[in-house]
Amino acid sequence: NKIYKVAVLPGDGIGPEVMAEALKVLDIIADKFALTFDFQHYDVGGIAIDKHNHALPQETLAGCECADAILFGSIGGPKWDSLPLDQRPERAALLKLRSHFDLFCNLRPATIYQGLQHLSPLRSDIAQQQVDMMVVRELTSGIYFGQPKGRELNNDQEVAFDTMRYSKSEITRIAHLAFLAAQKRNKKVTSVDKANVLECSRLWRETVDEVATSYPDVQLEHMYIDNAAMQLIRKPSDFDVILSSNLFGDILSDECAMITGSMGLLASASINQSGFGLFEPAGGSAPDIANLGIANPVAQILSAAMLLRYSLDQNAAADAIEQGVVHALQQGVLTKELVPSDEQHLAKSTSEVGDYIRDYIARSY
Ligand code: NAD
Ligand code: IPM
Ligand code: MN
Repeated sequence: NKIYKVAVLPGDGIGPEVMAEALKVLDIIADKFALTFDFQHYDVGGIAIDKHNHALPQETLAGCECADAILFGSIGGPKWDSLPLDQRPERAALLKLRSHFDLFCNLRPATIYQGLQHLSPLRSDIAQQQVDMMVVRELTSGIYFGQPKGRELNNDQEVAFDTMRYSKSEITRIAHLAFLAAQKRNKKVTSVDKANVLECSRLWRETVDEVATSYPDVQLEHMYIDNAAMQLIRKPSDFDVILSSNLFGDILSDECAMITGSMGLLASASINQSGFGLFEPAGGSAPDIANLGIANPVAQILSAAMLLRYSLDQNAAADAIEQGVVHALQQGVLTKELVPSDEQHLAKSTSEVGDYIRDYIARSY
């Protein structure tokens, strides 16, 4: 019986609160599916800066290296916002982990489940249509990582610059994964770019066209990012796989999250070519609601399900978690941000939602 080593990195803000709920759920999963997890906890982000003077201490990185997968909470917050960019939690820890492990493929699935259309802020006839999308976001290149970046003085004026840069091979490998994902889904890829303005996007479009010839069963459409942001609201049911570069995927995935009801619902998997991955909510540390016991733990719990599915190949266990989540939402077990303003007294706390999902799995499997 294999022991799965999972590096647990709760991080800052709501990270530790929602992580506790995901671990609660993984404990009952271990019981019910006869799995053995070895959870090792490490500091990351702002809390690691405070304790060890670095957002990604050597011990944390070493712990991730010997793990089978990484379960990540969220990092950052106002306390560390004025640090230089390369020391901030976002770059020094999260982007560093992504590049260190070559986690180039970021999967962010957004679904409006049956009976949960009312959670969407979209008009009900739009939300009623089958909305089931997967953002496939390139995660280790583009404007996040392109060099040079920095500041300089130009005629006594302060100037800042970033570089958007993509190689053909970087586009090719993420495009293949988008088409493979589409083959298992509804066989459509919408590739998002700004090819009317950006050279990177022109190479992106050409390359995606070439990759598409290997997948004749998948329909490909190209869409400009501005139009895509609008079409997602107008008719989200038209989308299946959304293929995008690093920055565009970042933006569209928050939009996809909200279409399904809340930032707190969207899980994500960041994986490399060998299936190793980091699993984290798409949202951040939510400093505005930290330590109040009201954060939605669902994105973190669903990220644990993605960990089971993508890195540990435990699909039945992953299915059980997803069922538990959908059941909780359908039963109206909802955190504050999902509850209409005149029914706030019905909202459940972070741990009540986690308990409910755990108990459901306990009695159903
Ligand atoms: P955010 O995602 O943290 O919060 C945006 C809004 O969504 C807030 O109103 C927040 O309360 C809400 N929200 C997010 N997750 C929620 C949840 N689980 N339940 C209920 N509501 C939720 O984005 P932000 O405010 O722009 O960023 C805050 C900090 O988080 C920044 O330092 C940012 O860099 C960082 N960040 C980290 C990650 C990560 O660790 N993966 C991702 C995004 C942002
Ligand atoms: C995300 C986050 C990160 C990103 C930040 C925190 C670096 O917004 O995972 O979506 O931009 O990729
Ligand atoms: Mn983001």
